[in-house]
Amino acid sequence: MPADNQPILLAIESSCDETSAAIMQADHVLSNIIASQVVHEKYGGVVPELASRAHQANIVPVVQQALEEASVQINDLEAVAFTQGPGLMGSLHVGCSFAKSLSLGLGIPLIAVHHMQAHILAHFIIGKEGQSVPSFPFLCLTVSGGHTQIVKVTSPFDMEIVGQTIDDAAGEAFDKAAKVLGLPYPGGPLIDRHAKVGDAAKYHFTTPRIGGYNYSFSGLKTNLLYFLRDRQKQDASFIQNELVHVCASYQRTIVDYLLKQLEAAATDLGLQDLCLAGGVSANSELREKFRSMCETNKWRAFIPPFEYCTDNAAMIGIGGYFKFQKGEFATPDAGPMPGFIM
Ligand code: KG4
Ligand code: ZN
Repeated sequence: MPADNQPILLAIESSCDETSAAIMQADHVLSNIIASQVVHEKYGGVVPELASRAHQANIVPVVQQALEEASVQINDLEAVAFTQGPGLMGSLHVGCSFAKSLSLGLGIPLIAVHHMQAHILAHFIIGKEGQSVPSFPFLCLTVSGGHTQIVKVTSPFDMEIVGQTIDDAAGEAFDKAAKVLGLPYPGGPLIDRHAKVGDAAKYHFTTPRIGGYNYSFSGLKTNLLYFLRDRQKQDASFIQNELVHVCASYQRTIVDYLLKQLEAAATDLGLQDLCLAGGVSANSELREKFRSMCETNKWRAFIPPFEYCTDNAAMIGIGGYFKFQKGEFATPDAGPMPGFIM
């Protein structure tokens, strides 16, 4: 546990469809509350207008619950961190405005955090048992619903994208496939679950070869769409009968593609600590194959605990804590940056 004199921070995450608040004491998480918005399920994707309304309704109760669970009084807070971007404008606005008001009201510093950097810095959250953390410089594959990036991390403040998707993100490839398979949003976890009992070698999907360490996922989704259309012409119950095998084959294609580019980048750059971050790093096959790829190459593999992989405020809290130590605070005119570049 952290010493009593360590600073206590509140962190807010509201970039997409999770309203989350965390109380951190230095690099330890005292509470991490996440309100997931179920309203988007029936639309097969996040509806921005509904997301910002739900954040507005959730933000105060989520912060109150985070304070209660951490047994922290509001006056004990020494700084407030929030997600500045990238993300949805209306969603970011809610967290940003709340954080600014609280910072002004309590007279405590405001800290603006980059969402994708925070996914990477989640590796530095110290869990209950304590654990080893990656050494700089390291390579991180960040895979989420909006991003797919291979990032060289030289320090908490110095990150360089060495490869990325030129169209859809890996999470989108999962979610869009789930939609055509008739599964609810977000489909990634459901494809993962079905794939566990399917035969990944039964069907074959292709991914394009892109220059450098980049990715392209939009063709894969179209590949699946045409494949299903052709099969359903012959058998109207094809999806129903073959769901687990299609999920397993499709997931295998994504996982192998993600790791192939990552392995090439790590080999060429000579980096030996490899990390996984972002919502898709919750994928069980990706986790398993990532670990075995690292073992084969004698690299060290790091994956944050499950609850810090998908969107959560604790990762904003650790990002905020690094900036707090450096005295890097935001001014009251800081606003949301939906297209925030790393
Ligand atoms: O990082 P995240 O929570 O939000 C963004 O910043 O986008 O990532 C959400 C994405 C969604 O596309 C979701 O389907 C995917 O992560 N995801 C998964 C799994 N769990 C979440 N994809 C594949 N397998 C999973 N187990
Ligand atoms: Zn995210």
